[in-house]
Amino acid sequence: MCGIIGRVGDGNALEPLLTGLENLEYRGYDSAGIAVQNGAGIDVEKRSGKVDELKQSIGDTPIEGEVGIGHTRWSTHGPPTDENAHPHTDETKDVAVVHNGIIENYADLKSELAEYGHTFTSDTDTEVIPHLIQYYLDDGLDNEAAFRQAIDDLEGSYAVTAMLSGEHVLYAARQGSPLVVGIEDGEYFLASDVPAFLEYTDSVVYLEDGDVVIVDDDGVTFSDLAGNPVTRESETVEWDPEQAGKGEYDHFMLKEIHEQPTALAQALEGRIDPENARISLGDFEPGTFDDISSVQFVACGTSYHAALYGSLTLKQAGIQSDALLANEYSVSAPPIDEETLVVAVTQSGETADTLNALRHAAAEGATTVTVTNVVGSTAAREADEALFIRAGPEIGVAATKTFSSQAVMLTLLGQRIVEDRFGEPAVDFETFLPELATMPSALDDILVRSDAEAIANRYEDSQSYFFIGRGLGFPVALEGALKFKEITYEHAEGFASGELKHGPLALVTPETPVFAVFTGEEDEKTLKNASEAQTRGAPLVAVCPEGHRALEVADAHLEIPETVPDLAGLLANVQLQLVSYYAADALDRPIDKPRNLAKSVTVE
Ligand code: F6R
Repeated sequence: MCGIIGRVGDGNALEPLLTGLENLEYRGYDSAGIAVQNGAGIDVEKRSGKVDELKQSIGDTPIEGEVGIGHTRWSTHGPPTDENAHPHTDETKDVAVVHNGIIENYADLKSELAEYGHTFTSDTDTEVIPHLIQYYLDDGLDNEAAFRQAIDDLEGSYAVTAMLSGEHVLYAARQGSPLVVGIEDGEYFLASDVPAFLEYTDSVVYLEDGDVVIVDDDGVTFSDLAGNPVTRESETVEWDPEQAGKGEYDHFMLKEIHEQPTALAQALEGRIDPENARISLGDFEPGTFDDISSVQFVACGTSYHAALYGSLTLKQAGIQSDALLANEYSVSAPPIDEETLVVAVTQSGETADTLNALRHAAAEGATTVTVTNVVGSTAAREADEALFIRAGPEIGVAATKTFSSQAVMLTLLGQRIVEDRFGEPAVDFETFLPELATMPSALDDILVRSDAEAIANRYEDSQSYFFIGRGLGFPVALEGALKFKEITYEHAEGFASGELKHGPLALVTPETPVFAVFTGEEDEKTLKNASEAQTRGAPLVAVCPEGHRALEVADAHLEIPETVPDLAGLLANVQLQLVSYYAADALDRPIDKPRNLAKSVTVE
């Protein structure tokens, strides 16, 4: 997830571009840059760091031009360096491009262009786009045709905006990544999201996949990639610019919960091939883990719960595996040798406890991998290899979308390890991968129809909240309880459902609702454990598909779509996130910044 802004109009584009970037910083903040037409050519200013740092480096001698593009980056290919920051240009600097999304075939395009003599200066997928445009210009196409042809060559998801030297025109295309147009008298904007230009106009056109837009001094034209005109209506948005980063949502947490279908689609993009029953994890080619005999996951908090999820997948497949709290690792690490793989799971890549565990493992001779959201993070730099979850920035302190993306990436990593070890994956890819591919739409389904708000209100005056699950439902129960306690400040506990009878039942009363997660794996046992609490007066909230046996006795129902046991917990987790959110909202808690907590814990 990155932020794009483009502007055509009278006067200097610098201010609207920088304002747009500041307003889009919630979409990415590891590097920023702008490019403007200066009359003689294209001027580019870009660097790693926040928009503020870009502003400082532009300093007192601002670059000038009436047409420009800008970008705030959240890295997916290559660390956040000055070279990898957008805009990217071709060698002659006649074409400048900003891009949000993932170009799946960039490596092929890059090597083809290299054969034609193009040289590249960044590690990004984006850089192939200006080179492709230049290639088609050299081939004799005019500017518009060269842009269209270049876009036609791209596979993956993109919102692209390009500017060519010597003309007051922006070219843009959308496929799978958002792009909107802002229209004001004589001034036009292109952006990833409306907040970018809300200070300047509230008249907006939302683009659709396959749209190509050309903006010049006379206005905006909409067409498909082949050039056939399409009609797009403008709408007036009624957002307060102050609120705009959160869009229609009251809190970043709710926005991020709703971003999960997109985040998961991004995590899976180019990594699963359901038709051919294959996964492809970039650098983790088949055979990477041939020599690995055991796996240790190290992580904290929500990431630890995702690690438990990943570890269980491996255990069930017959590989020795543990999920370990990173802060306990120095005193309780199991034996490590060169056949041990240690996987540090960390959204931020900066958690001190997790980094210490990673360093300890490396010092003992383990092979290390990190599964993280932040490309240039310390974990990504220090681990032998990194697998990026591509969830986009998470602003709310409580982790939500990153848990889902971590769990899915750990599942895929686990399958690669099992395949390497046993010659075949643990699950039948012919059924599992198509099911995995439907996860984004299953999440959407939950987000549209959830009864979580009503249930949160119904149990608002309870004393404690218990969350139970078995197998892959157990980490989800732990995560449900963690989310609930951190944003509501109410007492909440997660248990393996079979553990209830070994002590926690003593706490159960009619004031302690029990949320039971049913994944389809040994559900009868979970239901028996839940019923033991219900017999003692606790209301039972069943998180399960419609028609499930638990609904014969449950007091309330949080519905999830039918799926395989390996994925049901991910769906249940979203319902529990929503319950926590609405419970905290009813209590008027500062949801995005709960007391005493920080997004990234960089001390031991
Ligand atoms: C809970 C939460 C924390 C983090 C933990 C690890 O909602 O966000 O528990 O999961 O501090 O952080 P990362 O994943 O950045 O290592």
